[in-house]
Amino acid sequence: MSTVVVVGVQWGDEGKGKVVDLLAREADIIVRFQGGSNAGHTLVVGGKKTIVRLIPSGVLHSGKVCVIGNGVVVDPETLVEEIDTLQQQGCLTDPALLKISETAHLIMPYHKAIDIARERLRGEGKIGTTGRGIGPTYEDKMARVGIRFVDLLDDKIFGEKLTHSLQEKNSYLGVILKEQVLDYQQIFDNYRRFRDRLAPHVTNTSLYLHNEITRGRKVLFEGAQGTMLDIDHGTYPYVTSSNTVAGAVCTGAGIAPQQIHGVIGISKAYTTRVGSGPFPTELFGPEGETIRRKGGEFGTVTGRPRRCGWFDAVVARTAARLNGVNSFALTKIDVLSGFSTLRVCTAYEYKGQRYDEVPASATVIEHLTPIYEELSGWPEQLTDIRSLDALPANTRRYVERIEQLVNVPVKMISVGAGREETILIRPTFF
Ligand code: GDP
Ligand code: IMO
Ligand code: MG
Repeated sequence: MSTVVVVGVQWGDEGKGKVVDLLAREADIIVRFQGGSNAGHTLVVGGKKTIVRLIPSGVLHSGKVCVIGNGVVVDPETLVEEIDTLQQQGCLTDPALLKISETAHLIMPYHKAIDIARERLRGEGKIGTTGRGIGPTYEDKMARVGIRFVDLLDDKIFGEKLTHSLQEKNSYLGVILKEQVLDYQQIFDNYRRFRDRLAPHVTNTSLYLHNEITRGRKVLFEGAQGTMLDIDHGTYPYVTSSNTVAGAVCTGAGIAPQQIHGVIGISKAYTTRVGSGPFPTELFGPEGETIRRKGGEFGTVTGRPRRCGWFDAVVARTAARLNGVNSFALTKIDVLSGFSTLRVCTAYEYKGQRYDEVPASATVIEHLTPIYEELSGWPEQLTDIRSLDALPANTRRYVERIEQLVNVPVKMISVGAGREETILIRPTFF
């Protein structure tokens, strides 16, 4: 197998960064294919924490090529900052190690201003976005008025597109949203600086990936967000503005469906969500507080406390089907040590009807009743364990029950944030 996709199967922050960093050892190329700097992927290597937003999580391994695909929306300012930080750590020293798609769309200052202003106006009904301009940038892409890297490379084209966009956006910002309007020249000059920094990396990444896959090189596709945040299949409208499922690799990296060989679904051993929207297994009492504290459940990008709840097999089952997940990586199981009893949601009930998959309506999801099964917990700490056999019997039973409920084998168990704090049940994923 030469290509593997890693996707989150919950509402994001499942530990994709950690898993991708670990799997990147085996890969030649690591690719982001959707989302933008709303993502925050944490890598902990040798006790040192690195957070990446746009650059693929394989970046800490020397000699691996990192690709930002056409489906990603790129804030060039964040990207330049991220490159600077990583270069100071001795990464990405060769420009050939980072490739940016010429057709990836740019996040512009007005996208961020619109995102933030709209959220403010929504008040209680807000989505709880990361305020990074993600939604407005994808809107412009679909409306065919977005600005892409290929446009940025040509001053004249970039100037024309910016003039056109800014006219419309400034009237929207000023008249409808009652925000400050933005200055053309300031944006133009800033983006020209970003262009000078990023131009050496801009290329046809779709063709590059095609050629490398054809040569048998190992390619790892790194999802951002999670399946329940997918614009089509998530808990709409409390979702992000891109497709987050494995199928988005084809459109977001420009490769063909038969070039995808395996899909790994990442799930926490419990559930978290940051931002608004329905969350059936959410815990509001001391148990949720314990998970938040022990799991350090605070947003990587915004620092917001994450909402915490029990493992939801309905969510995982729906996501396994949508993504074609072959194997699961179960993360943060160490956080569950110390609970005498654990609960797992096996199905939902709403107005006398049973649901084995996540229903479409956010209102139904908000009001349904989760059906729980109780399992015995374990007091032992798990972080130093490196083999399945060494796990406490109740932990193994918990993992086995999840496998049964979701009907996908668990092939990796993460017992700590560090790269090595992992139980690899399957020795290789390629
Ligand atoms: P991502 O967005 O899916 O990459 O996940 P984040 O990095 O936003 O959030 C996951 C958090 O959990 C990070 O702080 C990780 O360092 C941490 N983490 C990942 N795996 C484990 C694990 O198995 N145990 C513990 N305790 N922490 C973990
Ligand atoms: P990673 O890749 C968790 C959530 C936001 C909000 C909704 C829409 O680190 O798992 P957006 O800014 O995308 O328009 O916000 O989606 N969200 C995430 N939640 N992890 C993420 O990324 C997220 N990216 C967006 O909190 O509810
Ligand atoms: Mg994250």
